[in-house]
Amino acid sequence: MDAKRRKADNEDAASEPATKSSKSASPTEGGPSQLDWKFSSYSQYVSTMGSEKMSVVFSIPHQPSALVKALTPFQNNSINLTHIESRPLAEDENKYKFLCNLEICNEDDEKRLKKAISELKEISGRDCVKVLSRRDIDKKDSESEEVPWFPIKISELDRFASQILSYGSELDADHPGFTDEVYRKRRKMFADIAYNYKHGEPIPQVEYNEAELATWRTVFTKLSTLFETHACKEFRKVWPLLVQNCNYNKDTIPQLQQVSQFLKDCTGFTLRPVAGLLSSRDFLAGLAFRVFHSTQYIRHGANPFYTPEPDVCHELIGHVPLFCDPEFAAFSQEIGLASLGAPDEWIEKLATLYWFTIEFGVCREEGALKAYGAGCISSIEELENCVSDTSKKLPFECENIVSTKYPITTIQPVYFVAPSFSEAKRKIREFSSQIPRTFTVHYNPYTQSVQLINKRANCVKMIRDLANDMKTLEDAVNKLED
Ligand SMILES: [Fe+2]
Repeated sequence: MDAKRRKADNEDAASEPATKSSKSASPTEGGPSQLDWKFSSYSQYVSTMGSEKMSVVFSIPHQPSALVKALTPFQNNSINLTHIESRPLAEDENKYKFLCNLEICNEDDEKRLKKAISELKEISGRDCVKVLSRRDIDKKDSESEEVPWFPIKISELDRFASQILSYGSELDADHPGFTDEVYRKRRKMFADIAYNYKHGEPIPQVEYNEAELATWRTVFTKLSTLFETHACKEFRKVWPLLVQNCNYNKDTIPQLQQVSQFLKDCTGFTLRPVAGLLSSRDFLAGLAFRVFHSTQYIRHGANPFYTPEPDVCHELIGHVPLFCDPEFAAFSQEIGLASLGAPDEWIEKLATLYWFTIEFGVCREEGALKAYGAGCISSIEELENCVSDTSKKLPFECENIVSTKYPITTIQPVYFVAPSFSEAKRKIREFSSQIPRTFTVHYNPYTQSVQLINKRANCVKMIRDLANDMKTLEDAVNKLED
């Protein structure tokens, strides 16, 4: 676990008690997910990333000294503008529009910027000021009409490559591989692959070294003994197919490209290598496009049953098998779609739903509890705990799930039992309808893009598409009756 990150988490928890900011790492055998390192606020993001570039756009009357007056809030609050440009406002010839670029580096900068924006709104009018950012720094209570940026096309996931929260060989002092120069070089190589990856390219093949193969062998061999008795039927069904088609065996670490292709054939899900840790918002956005950001490196061999971060064992053994299941794939995408453009507090709720399902989900199968969450399936200790009487089991209710706190450094004391993936999906969709968005999103698999349904014309087109599908179904039913 990253001590620096943990500190940041705790500090944030103190200032924002409504967020579950401490989901940072779990020293379970299988390792946690990307989301374990999520940043509950962008102040954490900025403190870790170093700085964040953003722009402020405002319009003012075309009058002498109007610009000086408008820039005064920035000067008064010591905000350094890096670029200013202006143009006439198309809608009103008596006004000019200004775009100011700036950079914030810490929470103090952020506070001063908020104050400056507030003062600017007093001068220009509330509706004449917009902040362009990956987040809604301009938000004031729940009044903000700003929508956080989100990808519309699958290729826009490329933007996340530069938004990672840690990179390559920059291991922390308490990481098992911190003093291992060879391991650190390998981590840098894996990070470079992912950092340079672009949508549509094949994921580069990796030749794993003997030490890495030995670690895989240890983990794979031990976990395999429990799947038949502890994993859900969807997992058990697909596991032999992965063995058959994707080189899942104790002596080979499967290649992401081969696994991704197999996944695509099953459910349309694909893997995408990730160089480091993504924010919850970015990670969940990938799911909306049926893209799973996967690490490619393996944990350090000093302790094969411990990893302070997600690794290829966790991704390939824990996550991939369930993404091959159509119901589970649809369920996962539902969480991703719900996250697009959602306010920060809802990202937290969705990340918690993710935690208790995709990471640590259990279901009931003919009366017996079975694991389907990747954090359970890729950890011996967690796998045994989740189906035993020692942990608490609660019914799958979204309201209860999102308000449940959970430990990040010990095994889970509570699990929520899903009746079925389709029922869980229905409940998440119902729950997500409360998200304060002015639009609904729909995924178009043909164009691999998200459609915003916020206009009548969008609805009419969707109705026509549905009508076509209904006609196809009607024809099929008629033929079956004949
Ligand atoms: Fe995970």
